[in-house]
Amino acid sequence: MIDTVAIKKTLTEHSRLSELDMEGIQFGSYYSDHMFVADYQNGTWSDCRILPFDDFRISPATSALHYGQSVFEGLKAYAGKDGQILVFRAIDNFLRMNKSAARMCMPALPEEVFMGGLVELLKTDRSWVPTDLGTSLYIRPFMFATDEFIGVRPSKNYRFIIFTSPAGAYYSEPVKVKVEKYYSRAFPGGTGAAKAAGNYAASLYPAKLAQEAGYHQLIWTDGLTHEYIEEAGTMNVMFIIDNKVITSKGGETVLDGITRNSVLHLAREWGYPVEERDVSVKEVISAIETGTLTEAFGTGTAATIAQIAIISNDGQDYTLPPAETREFSNRVLQELNDIKTGQIEDRHGWNVIV
Ligand code: COI
Repeated sequence: MIDTVAIKKTLTEHSRLSELDMEGIQFGSYYSDHMFVADYQNGTWSDCRILPFDDFRISPATSALHYGQSVFEGLKAYAGKDGQILVFRAIDNFLRMNKSAARMCMPALPEEVFMGGLVELLKTDRSWVPTDLGTSLYIRPFMFATDEFIGVRPSKNYRFIIFTSPAGAYYSEPVKVKVEKYYSRAFPGGTGAAKAAGNYAASLYPAKLAQEAGYHQLIWTDGLTHEYIEEAGTMNVMFIIDNKVITSKGGETVLDGITRNSVLHLAREWGYPVEERDVSVKEVISAIETGTLTEAFGTGTAATIAQIAIISNDGQDYTLPPAETREFSNRVLQELNDIKTGQIEDRHGWNVIV
């Protein structure tokens, strides 16, 4: 049961829903009618409100724009049976957002603000949850520093916003990835485990270089030796080697992925050996060469499972077994989709029902 919070509602007089064309819609390019907003001032969160989705004015001195105190989350709502909306593992996003906020020296959000705002926003824009197979409503909660001050110190004021975006597939095909041996996404003592805006900013230039070389994304290696695999693009990464599910261990350089944890949970339930440990590039390449690596995929909210078709290492491309032959990742994708859309019993209590 979510504690309630007073939310003032101002509804749009011009819904844009009739303009929505889900055909070929690009991820993250179209937004639902309303947004939820709350402000942190004088040490408390207040002024919770639902407003028409719109631009807002901020000062050029807004501290988030200069020093990057900004964290976000991503989660999805699905159309279930009988008009229900199912939101996958929203509490985990709430908890992770507060961990990210703590690392970035930002205040914690009370559960009733995050969850109460989310539920009320989804009730308000219920008809924006797409129903076609493979579609969902992507939800973007985020918090940023709002002090109008360019001295370097933690802001005293913050804004929290949730808006939503109808979404289709994130990747339309299995991805080609390149092992990155120079640039780093994370390092011990850094912010790699936080969903902080700056982590994504710092990833863009190396990712652009990889794209110019013909790859979709990078495989990030550890910042100290570049010998161990940590993530793939904006996702966690997993390998099936010798029928075992292998992924880099969590900790301060790897995002505590909610899809990652769900996949590992199902793997253990199904009796697969699961190893969360250091995974070296050398081990993965040698498993490809000997044919013991049968699957490689990214896990994340946006894509759920993104099959990896090609891994490039030290200038050599390694082609992996075809995506349709991959027993574990195809099964886990189906199972997660079925849980998220209410096709099968939510035996773990992962869905929040609106
Ligand atoms: C995810 O898939 O979980 C992501 O973080 C991708 C998002 C930044 C678009």
